[in-house]
Amino acid sequence: MDTSEFIFKQTDNSVKNASFTWQTPSNIALVKYWGKSNPQLPKNASVSFTLNNCHTITTITFEKKDSNTINFELFFEGQKKDDFKPKIAKFFERILEYCSYITSYKMVISSENSFPHSSGIASSASGMSAIAMCLLSLEKQLNPSLTDIYFNKKASFLARLGSGSASRSIEGSLVVWGNHPEIEGSSDLFGIPFPYKVHDIFKNYQDAILLVDKGEKQVSSTVGHNLMHNHPYAENRFKQANDNLAKLSKILQNGDIKEFINLVESEALTLHAMMLTSNPYFILMKPNTLEVINKIWEYRAENDSNICFTLDAGANVHVLYPENEKELVNKFIENTLSKYCQKNQYICDESGFGAKQL
Ligand code: DP6
Repeated sequence: MDTSEFIFKQTDNSVKNASFTWQTPSNIALVKYWGKSNPQLPKNASVSFTLNNCHTITTITFEKKDSNTINFELFFEGQKKDDFKPKIAKFFERILEYCSYITSYKMVISSENSFPHSSGIASSASGMSAIAMCLLSLEKQLNPSLTDIYFNKKASFLARLGSGSASRSIEGSLVVWGNHPEIEGSSDLFGIPFPYKVHDIFKNYQDAILLVDKGEKQVSSTVGHNLMHNHPYAENRFKQANDNLAKLSKILQNGDIKEFINLVESEALTLHAMMLTSNPYFILMKPNTLEVINKIWEYRAENDSNICFTLDAGANVHVLYPENEKELVNKFIENTLSKYCQKNQYICDESGFGAKQL
């Protein structure tokens, strides 16, 4: 795979000190990425809605230095956070061949999330994409000829090396990551905005995140993805995901919302089925996850609604519904579903458009 276009080429420009701030979103996968090979290449293509309210805001200040080592400090919500450092250090090492300039600067990274940390909401996607955007802002000053297209493509490429799903948190409302024959321009190396016209029913799609179980993830994503190595159903799963993406691509264009519901819920349950059937095995749902799913199914049948759910690798439930049902479904969530959440907590979000420089 040719990654040479992402290698930074030295210019005559020099930048002494600089500071950039980016706000980047989290995302929720509809067709799931679960299984990867080195270095951070997905076993199947995936697609996600970009979220609007769940985001990370990160500032990186760059101060020119002489030594040739990676040097950074990390602050999370105002506090020095040395326990997050190893993950970021590993990320910088991985991207060094593409961003040789990072060793010329002392970097101070200050980050905050719009959602509670360890709430079970994936913060690696928004966190890594924010760092990638700040790096590209510096790179653009070093090389002003970079185009906007290249900027986003390389940011997604770098973000992927930090966390696979972060490649889908740069640009676009629906983002595809992973090479797929039916998605023009798709690549294992970076995410792209879904390239076809999306039916109006999927615009401003609503996502209420029910915090059924807060706290640290029971299975880290690295451990989780590794479970797909030698998994008895892995190959079929990767094929099914790619088939599902082909189907979902058509659904997103033709607006067949019943088919959307069927596919999205099946993807969520399959992700959990992969964990139930791996070794070691995990049950990531909690009793209230199942209660919520049953309530959603009941509500859908009784109200002829288009509400559905998806899941991440945890117990929280993402409730998905079209904008035209917002008022009624929000009432249902408040009156019925919120009691299955820890401290009745849930976060209302909707699909958004990607990263913003602040
Ligand atoms: C279940 O992107 O967190 O959310 O590449 O190891 O950082 P790493 O994994 P990560 O995996 C996300 C898995 C998922 C499904 C998805 O977002 O597609």
